[in-house]
Amino acid sequence: MIKFDAVSKRYPNGTTAVDELSLDLPEGGVTVLVGSSGCGKTTTLRMVNRMVEPTSGTISVGGRDILEADAAELRRGIGYVIQQSGLFPHRTVLDNIATVPLLLGWGRRKARARAAELLELVGLPADAGKRYPHQLSGGQQQRVGVARALAADPPVLLMDEPFGAVDPVVRTQLQNELLRLQEELRKTVVFVTHDIDEAVRLGDRIAVFRTGGRLVQCAAPAELLARPADDFVADFLGAERGLKLLSLTSLADVPSAPGRAIPADEPAGAVPRDGGRWRLVTSARGEPLGWLDTDALPAGGTAGEAALAPVRPLRDTDSLLSALNEAVSSPAGAVARVSADGVLTGITSREAIHDRAGRSHAEAAGTPTPAGTAGAAATDATAPAGTATERPA
Ligand SMILES: Nc1ncnc2c1ncn2[C@@H]1O[C@H](COP(=O)(O)OP(=O)(O)OP(=O)(O)O)[C@@H](O)[C@H]1O
Ligand SMILES: [Mg+2]
Repeated sequence: MIKFDAVSKRYPNGTTAVDELSLDLPEGGVTVLVGSSGCGKTTTLRMVNRMVEPTSGTISVGGRDILEADAAELRRGIGYVIQQSGLFPHRTVLDNIATVPLLLGWGRRKARARAAELLELVGLPADAGKRYPHQLSGGQQQRVGVARALAADPPVLLMDEPFGAVDPVVRTQLQNELLRLQEELRKTVVFVTHDIDEAVRLGDRIAVFRTGGRLVQCAAPAELLARPADDFVADFLGAERGLKLLSLTSLADVPSAPGRAIPADEPAGAVPRDGGRWRLVTSARGEPLGWLDTDALPAGGTAGEAALAPVRPLRDTDSLLSALNEAVSSPAGAVARVSADGVLTGITSREAIHDRAGRSHAEAAGTPTPAGTAGAAATDATAPAGTATERPA
C-alpha cells in the first residue's frame, strides 16, 4: 500500500534524517515506527504526505508515485494526527472535525452531519461538538484530532506520537479506542511512538530505526521480541522483552480445572477443610468474590462474610502476562477464569501458566519443545476437579 524505495532525506544543514529506506507497509495494517529521538521517524512520516520532500528514492501510495500526485489532493486522502492534537483553537470541535469535508466541497450540512457521526465514533459526547478545543481535556482533544483525521474516510492514517501527551490511563483508553476503530475501519496506519509497550500493543508490525535514519528491523511484535536482529534492537526492547512477549499471548489455550468454589451463603462452619487451604468464594450467580483462608475460618457467619483475599478473575482474551501477575499476587497461587459475563469457568494453577509461558517463548524463538506437558499441570491443590460449586451433602 505504502512503499518506500531507497528513500533518503538530507536536510540543507547536512543532517541525514533518513538513509536509503526501503520498506513496504501493507494495506489495512498498523506499522509502528520506533527508535530514539532524532532517528528520522517524523521525517519518514511526513514524506508520505509530502510535508517533507525526499532527497532521493521513490515513495508510492496505493501504487501511485506520490511525487507525481498533486500535493494538496494527496493530503486529503491521508489523515494526519500529531501529539498536541493540532486543532484550530478558534473553531468549535464540530468545525474542526469538518475541516477536510468542507475543503472537499461537501457543503456545510453534510460536513457537520459527518462530524457529528465521527464525534460518536471516537467516543465523545454529542455536546462536545459545540465546545472549543481548550474546553476539552487533553485526551478528549486527541480524540477530536483522530476524528478530524478520519473525517473524509482517507485510506491512510499517519499518527505522530498521537497519545504522547496524555497520562497513562487515558493513553490506554485511547489505544483501546484506536484498536476498536481499526477493527472496523481497517486503515493503513503509520504510527510513531517512543513507547515500546504502545508499539507492541498497537502494531501489526514494528519498524525499529537507529540514529541517522537507518532501518534496523521490521517485524511483527512477537517476532521482534523473540528474535531481535541485533543488540541495538534488543537494548531498545528492554530487559523485560520476555514479559512483553507474554503480553501478546492469550490465556485461551491454557487449561483450567473445574474449580470447586464455595457459595457465599455457605455457613463458615460448614466449609470443608480438606480441599486445600485457599478456596474461592462465589456469588449466587457464580462470580468469584475472593479467596477464603480455611486456616482462619470465622466461628460464625457465612463464607461470603469472612475476610476474603482479593481475586482478579481473568477471561480467555486476557494475556498470559496478566495471568502470571494474578498468579503471583493471589495467595492461592492460582487464577480464577471467568466467561465473558463474569461467571467462574475454572481455575488455572501457577504451574500451568509457567508451563504455557515457557512454551510461548520456545515457539516464538523457533525451538521445539517437549509436547504434552501443559495439561499435567492444570490442576491445583486448591481446586480439585469436580462440580463448579459444592454444597454440603
Ligand atoms: N527542518 C529540519 N532541518 C534540519 N534538520 C532537521 C529538520 N527536521 C529534522 N531535522 C533533523 O533530522 C533528524 C531526524 O529528525 P526527526 O524529526 O525525523 O526525528 P524523530 O525520530 O521524529 O525524533 P523525535 O523522536 O525526537 O520526534 C534529526 O537529527 C533532526 O535534528
Ligand atoms: Mg518526531
